[in-house]
Amino acid sequence: MAGGAGTGGRRQMALVGFMQAGNATVYAGSWRHPATEHGFLSAGYYQRLGQVLEQGCFDLMFFDDRLAMPGIYAGSVSEAVRWGARPVKLDLSLVLGVLAASTRHIGLGATYSTTYYAPFHVARTFATLDHLSGGRAAWNVVTSVNDSEAQNFGLDQHLPHDARYDRADEFLEATLGLWDTWEDDALVLDRATGVFAHPDKVHELGHRGEWFNVRGPLTVPRSPQGRPVLLQAGSSGRGRDFAARWAELIFTGDPDVEIARAHYEDQKERIAQRGRDPDAVKMLPMAYTVVGESRAHAEEREQLFLHELVHPMASLTLLSELMNYDFSSMTLDSPITDDLIESVSGIRGLVQNIRRHIGGETVTVGDLAGHRATLLQGPRFVGTGSEVADQMTAWFESDACDGFVIAATHSPGAYEDVVRLVVPELQRRGLFRDRYAGCTLRENLGLTRPATAVAGDRG
Ligand SMILES: Cc1cc2nc3c(=O)[nH]c(=O)nc-3n(C[C@H](O)[C@H](O)[C@H](O)COP(=O)(O)O)c2cc1C
Repeated sequence: MAGGAGTGGRRQMALVGFMQAGNATVYAGSWRHPATEHGFLSAGYYQRLGQVLEQGCFDLMFFDDRLAMPGIYAGSVSEAVRWGARPVKLDLSLVLGVLAASTRHIGLGATYSTTYYAPFHVARTFATLDHLSGGRAAWNVVTSVNDSEAQNFGLDQHLPHDARYDRADEFLEATLGLWDTWEDDALVLDRATGVFAHPDKVHELGHRGEWFNVRGPLTVPRSPQGRPVLLQAGSSGRGRDFAARWAELIFTGDPDVEIARAHYEDQKERIAQRGRDPDAVKMLPMAYTVVGESRAHAEEREQLFLHELVHPMASLTLLSELMNYDFSSMTLDSPITDDLIESVSGIRGLVQNIRRHIGGETVTVGDLAGHRATLLQGPRFVGTGSEVADQMTAWFESDACDGFVIAATHSPGAYEDVVRLVVPELQRRGLFRDRYAGCTLRENLGLTRPATAVAGDRG
């Protein structure tokens, strides 16, 4: 099947579950939600999530990650621990290993940092996952966001923003190089002659660069997808250029449809300028869905989500973490100025997005604290299954996106609601698949399997 086209030729959405292997979803109040199950330390919880999303024919479930507890606010992790502002993050390779064994079709994505890991480690982890899952692995490439993470890896401070992307470019060159060190037909496994593999089809990489020296070859043969699918969510100019060069799925956090359209156009142009096919790279905004049996039920759930579950201190703790800026030194009526935003080294676009959500130009620290559903970056679709499907369709059909990354207000219930009430509506409209057509994630996304590149041949 062509990428994203349904059997009748109609363009179809990609749907991705935005997962967290920890105590809260991306919505910090989720652990307090009455319908949330506190199963985040058990294998069965993740297996159930996988089964739900696979039943809904989702393309992919991808897990975010952070390599430290939020510890920027007042230089302490106390508030994050007290209010459950995402102090728990499990090791993703093991979570995905559990999912590889308990699902059959859905893509399995994990976030790994190019700033704190090494190319060999990442290449080996994802090639292994790709084998064990039968070709369903995806890597969300991030450069990480703050000093707390640096301090868990032997550094005092996070690298400056653009230097992180320079390192990430070289990281990708080395990692893709490692994935190509085994040719597809390198394995022989001839019991009679005793030849295990062709030595002339397994190559050393010999990468020597500014950031890394990697000899290779990888200790894992070439994997079913050739290489895992590459995910990325850069939003700055440098981040968008990086995504244009490498990404196969791009996640965004655009607050409204006009901003999303401009972002979509700009990003696709950058991809074309790189000589790649813009239609082959899907752009997916993160979106919360609040689905109810009736409109009133959905709105009641939305009020709970927006106003009652996130403690203001948890908001500030998370903002400090994401922007790498200690808001405890400011009073509640201090304005968040453009100069302040320029001076932060974390995610700069976040406050602009929150300004949009709050609906005013002047945002104070108190506004951020009061904006309890912190991280409402993308759109919020509220209503019955058919109303939510309408809102998703409107975005999808106005050149703003190629699908969505669905964030959960509570788990696993929010995904169960989408699968039960929204997915059938999208399927009825021909906008979403009703079965998996391919075996690998690449096949389901309509992406080609890359050929091996000769070392040093990478663009
Ligand atoms: C849907 C989505 C998921 C993200 N997941 C992570 C993550 O798991 N870990 C992380 O460090 N950053 C994550 N980010 C942040 C991005 O990697 C990136 O740093 C951010 O969008 C800012 O862009 P910039 O790096 O170009 O400034 C995510 C962003 C979005 C929109």
